[in-house]
Amino acid sequence: MRVIAIVNQKGGCGKTTTTVNLAGCLAADGAQVLVIDLDPQAHSTMALGVDPEEVEENLYEVLAEPGGSDHLQSVILEVGDNLYVAPSGIVLSALEQKLASERVESRTERLSAAVEKLPSQYDYALIDCPPNVGLLTFNALRAASEVIVPLETSPFAINGVQKLLETIGLLSERIGHEVSVRILPTLYDGRTRYARKILTEIREMFKDMCFDSVIRQNVKLREAVAKGKPIIRYAPSANGAIDYSALAVEVSALDPSLGVAQLPEPEPRVNDPREVVVRYRDPMASDVRIAGDFNGWVPDKGVRSLIESEGQTRIWTKILQLPPGTYQYRYVVDGQWLEDPENPEFAKGSVGGRNSILVVR
Ligand SMILES: Nc1ncnc2c1ncn2[C@@H]1O[C@H](COP(=O)(O)OP(=O)(O)O)[C@@H](O)[C@H]1O
Ligand SMILES: [Mg+2]
Repeated sequence: MRVIAIVNQKGGCGKTTTTVNLAGCLAADGAQVLVIDLDPQAHSTMALGVDPEEVEENLYEVLAEPGGSDHLQSVILEVGDNLYVAPSGIVLSALEQKLASERVESRTERLSAAVEKLPSQYDYALIDCPPNVGLLTFNALRAASEVIVPLETSPFAINGVQKLLETIGLLSERIGHEVSVRILPTLYDGRTRYARKILTEIREMFKDMCFDSVIRQNVKLREAVAKGKPIIRYAPSANGAIDYSALAVEVSALDPSLGVAQLPEPEPRVNDPREVVVRYRDPMASDVRIAGDFNGWVPDKGVRSLIESEGQTRIWTKILQLPPGTYQYRYVVDGQWLEDPENPEFAKGSVGGRNSILVVR
């Protein structure tokens, strides 16, 4: 089974439309396709004709309890020929809170554990993600070996995608499985010169990462959602059906064997840089960077960042590559230079205040 997550933290870029209609086209070609609706708004569930309020059990039951991973198959509903949905519901928005006290590893691997236990009947599982990179999206990225990032062909849409790709790369490195990522231009209006220019820019920027298929704006796609059917069933000759069919052909032709085995990491030599991870927790801050003598006191220079949330608290994880030695640093929290509140080791800074101390062995 190929597990493909449809991810973008931006709302309205076509995640749900892509999930449902790619699923519909793959199913129409004879594949057995499961849509996993991870968005508490349950748009995919509804677009496949299921009323989330009428559903007895949804993904919350599967993800919230430790033994829930055995039950994924029992919440799945058949919604058409070869087409199935694991429904969502608003209760999924409570998952983050419910699992807040658990270890990060355990709460992010709920979905992958459940997917692994599915019977071999399905050829594809497509995961529709909510418009943020929180616990649910992390679960999707962990379960998937392929990611599709729908990208609206409009100004500003490209902003933020680079960051998203970094986050995906970082996460896949951390969990030790490779994820192949592809960009899908959506909501394309080929009549405007502006949209054509942006499409060219997207292609130049992402090169091979970009699908050849482009999804044009097509009002029938909106209508199909309201009818609770994939476009290929609702209006098979509409542009939306043509575009998503082309995407289905492209997806099915891609080599699924990208999850290449990871080579074991060599033992670090004495002075090789070590990966050093520090964390800063804060419910109020909106921007947290790290600066120290290791990066010339330039905030976040050469540092990889990951933001997660634990209940109300946001956690900034900073990953540094440092050779053994002793370093001084501060966090730059919304522009203020502060010592690390969780680190008792500090030295007096040359411009007053305290620098925290980091020893790498
Ligand atoms: N290619 C398209 N043509 C016309 N409308 C579209 C197209 N793609 C998405 N839409 C509409 O745009 C809105 C947002 O799309 P959606 O797939 O729900 O985005 P997301 O899941 O990323 O929030 C929906 O109303 C959807 O029907
Ligand atoms: Mg959506």
